[in-house]
Amino acid sequence: MIELKQIHKTYPNKNGAPIIALKGIDIKIEKGEIYGVMGPSGAGKSTLIRTANLLEKPSSGSVLIDGVDLTTLNTEALRRERRNMGMIFQHFNLLSSRTVARNIALPLELTGLSRKEIKQRVDQLCDLTGLSTRQNAYPHELSGGQKQRVAIARALATSPKILLSDEATSSLDPETTRSILELLRGINRELKLTILLITHEMEVIKRICDRACILDQGSLIEEAPVIELFSRPKTPLAKKFVLSSLHIDLPEALEAQLLKEPTELSVPLVRLTFLGKKAGEPVMVSLLKKFNVTTNILQAQLNWVHQASIGVSICELLGQREAIVQGIQFIQSEGIDVEILGYVNPSATLNS
Ligand SMILES: Nc1ncnc2c1ncn2[C@@H]1O[C@H](COP(=O)(O)OP(=O)(O)OP(=O)(O)O)[C@@H](O)[C@H]1O
Ligand SMILES: [Mg+2]
Repeated sequence: MIELKQIHKTYPNKNGAPIIALKGIDIKIEKGEIYGVMGPSGAGKSTLIRTANLLEKPSSGSVLIDGVDLTTLNTEALRRERRNMGMIFQHFNLLSSRTVARNIALPLELTGLSRKEIKQRVDQLCDLTGLSTRQNAYPHELSGGQKQRVAIARALATSPKILLSDEATSSLDPETTRSILELLRGINRELKLTILLITHEMEVIKRICDRACILDQGSLIEEAPVIELFSRPKTPLAKKFVLSSLHIDLPEALEAQLLKEPTELSVPLVRLTFLGKKAGEPVMVSLLKKFNVTTNILQAQLNWVHQASIGVSICELLGQREAIVQGIQFIQSEGIDVEILGYVNPSATLNS
């Protein structure tokens, strides 16, 4: 449905070397999917989403929407295709001199509908986005969440098949963010809308995306279904994002004591990630029974990503060295992800 093929984008730079914003991005998004793009500031996220509707023309590569390559279209044909794509932004971009209803009506006024038809459509959109009682308010009279609802209603006015969202929740508080994400999820289901969203918050990806990718310095470094991205991030950057969103960083005191190599007295400190229905306890019982290895849990957390649970625990493994190695192999064979974070002196952590 949306296919970005080998997208390169270089911005000219008067005072120096050109800025390479995108380096050969390939992304394919299915109809009805919510696809997230995550990455640090300057990674190229906004540039990427703007190439999807050709607000930004890629230096090379193609943008296929239902098989039509937008880069080959003339202005008129491109304008028609763009009606199939709505877009929302971090700062809402509403017209301050227009009421809610007239902001939403704006794209409809350009399509030649009658006033009556426009009013009907605006009523429908206000119902959908929970704005029915605010139709006559002006933007300055609205909360941030309400402003974004107006922007969403306006983006949906021409019944697009695709919604592009550039940091739409970045200036909203967590609760409002959740309500806007729920609205987007609802619209996605009800209207079978395909959503491409970019964000620098892993929480957004976790809440509503089906798949996501991570962009770093203009390159796509990792792409996966969200549940997999959270349970088995591959690149260091993905791991960092996932861990920061799960709030299970190592306590600083422990981090300071962490050794890179094992010593005679130290024991491994591991992060175990349990995916789906698998629970941690039976494995830990088996570790003790089969290998006489004790797990000393320092931190544990259960997270829900869509319908699946991800359990993460950080623990020391105490036992004979050889038994610990076998124990780790056993845990892995049970489909649990094991990452050795380092080695610690067990007495140090037990006392801390
Ligand atoms: N119009 C432009 N002209 C020149 N350089 C640009 C332009 N737009 C973006 N860039 C540069 O391209 C790179 C990618 O920028 P982009 O805005 O796509 O990043 P981003 O991932 O959206 O960052 P943020 O999270 O801060 O919004 C940056 O180095 C940026 O300075
Ligand atoms: Mg941006």
